[in-house]
Amino acid sequence: MINPFREDLVSRNLPEACSIVIFGATGDLTHRKLIPALYNLAVDGELPSGVRIIGVARRDWSDEYFREELKRANQKVSRTGHDEAVWDSLASSIFYHCSEFQDKEGYDKLAKRLSEDDRARGGKGNRLFYIASAPEYFDDILLNLKEAGLNREQESGWSRVIVEKPFGTDLGTAQHLNEVVNGTFEEKDTYRIDHYLGKETAQNIMVLRFANAIFEPMWNKEHIDHIQITCAEHFGMEGGRGGYYDKSGALRDMVQNHLLQLLSLVAMEPPTDLSADGVRDEKVKVLRSLRQWDTPELVGKNVVRAQYLAGNINGDEVPGYREEERVNPESLTESYVALRCLIDNWRWSGVPFYIRMGKRLPKKATEISIHFKETPTVLFNAMPGGVPGGNVLVIRIQPDEGISLRMNSKLPGTTLRLEPVKMDFHYSTSFGKSSPEAYERLLADAMAGDATLFARRDEVEEAWRFVDHIERAWHDTRTPPMMAEFPAGSWGPREADELLARDGKTWRRL
Ligand SMILES: NC(=O)c1ccc[n+]([C@@H]2O[C@H](COP(=O)([O-])OP(=O)(O)OC[C@H]3O[C@@H](n4cnc5c(N)ncnc54)[C@H](OP(=O)(O)O)[C@@H]3O)[C@@H](O)[C@H]2O)c1
Repeated sequence: MINPFREDLVSRNLPEACSIVIFGATGDLTHRKLIPALYNLAVDGELPSGVRIIGVARRDWSDEYFREELKRANQKVSRTGHDEAVWDSLASSIFYHCSEFQDKEGYDKLAKRLSEDDRARGGKGNRLFYIASAPEYFDDILLNLKEAGLNREQESGWSRVIVEKPFGTDLGTAQHLNEVVNGTFEEKDTYRIDHYLGKETAQNIMVLRFANAIFEPMWNKEHIDHIQITCAEHFGMEGGRGGYYDKSGALRDMVQNHLLQLLSLVAMEPPTDLSADGVRDEKVKVLRSLRQWDTPELVGKNVVRAQYLAGNINGDEVPGYREEERVNPESLTESYVALRCLIDNWRWSGVPFYIRMGKRLPKKATEISIHFKETPTVLFNAMPGGVPGGNVLVIRIQPDEGISLRMNSKLPGTTLRLEPVKMDFHYSTSFGKSSPEAYERLLADAMAGDATLFARRDEVEEAWRFVDHIERAWHDTRTPPMMAEFPAGSWGPREADELLARDGKTWRRL
């Protein structure tokens, strides 16, 4: 398999030197993801020389202390390990800027610092602002950047912004945030992170579909029975996560962004080219074609929400969702959601797409499975065992990224019996090197000005439109659809099995 966006296949701008300014630089995301990603880009020789990293937060840290903290984090989590020489070279370009997000003066000082720096080093004035803060500060940061003139393109340089998730909590807040973002930066300079799009296997969906002649002719309602998208997590609300999660829930935290993005990649038409808008134009059409579950009755029929009860995961007793730390004991937030989606367009009419996402399931795994229709029942069905089922193509997003195809085969022996067998491709063994972390790819793309793997404004809003109807039905006080339950460590509630059973289908066993 090949990567669709490799420079030798697609012409793309090579990253230019720039100043990367991270708002929220003392936080978890910067330590665990952003700095290790930049470090690994440096290891792979993909970080342009002349890049400077300026971290903004309110703690009174020095440059040296900031570097030491980041080094400790990098040693723990870096994908390729920690090489002192590479780190020292990167660390000499890392600086700390102490400022409150609301403090206008802090932005003026930052602007001055960046200009002086460019002048001293002959920089072109390229700036990449990364908003890695809690969402309540997004507006302040954007408006203050504008007031300090940092949003404007410099004489010869560019100015871009990366915004972290969550991008709003419903359609209204997402539209408001889009107004603020687009009132500050042009859409072409706005990079809304969905880190699932940076995963190697998510990028490979387009290659699998459009660079292999055997799949695309069958990728439609004539040959595909249904599609399942599963995102299972075995962890619960450890590390104080309950406070944030209880205000969000599985639908808003994972489905609105990551899983609907996967659905749109699997279902979209071939784009006219691999440009950012070429690809995103096709993805957004899928979201627009989603049938809306816009009444409590439709939500009750097509969506299941649930919470886990106390149970056992890998031999450990774990509490129920409502007993978790920082979760309201009467919470009505779903830790699990299963949906039946229909895409009303020519290609997919009548083909159900089932999505399930849950915490405290037996294992951590994200995958898409394409269930092909069964063969006509004429040849092998009279035999013992018959045909053991249709072909299933599985795209494993994480962990153990890869693709497998389930086929039926003759069991060796003198009688004719059929057994399913699996053709399996693993990224880790096929290419002899580990895949880059999603944040590596996304940071490199933002520096290069390639927004293909970032969500566009209309995509975000269409996804919220779909999700909002469901949230509204759940919060409808007259007939709220029920909250199902299941023991932690099991594969979800009985109601989610019934959702598929009504269509004569079952969830794939992972
Ligand atoms: N952590 C992850 O793995 C992850 C994954 C995906 C998305 N995200 C998203 O990324 C964002 C950041 O998450 P996080 O986990 O890194 O958060 P975090 O650990 O709570 O860090 C928050 C950062 O914001 C700074 N900050 C807070 N209030 C400030 C203020 N008034 N003025 C200046 N600085 C202020 C903090 O600085 P001080 O230390 O100085 O207070 C800290 O650097 C969130 O939107 C989150 O949803 C995180």
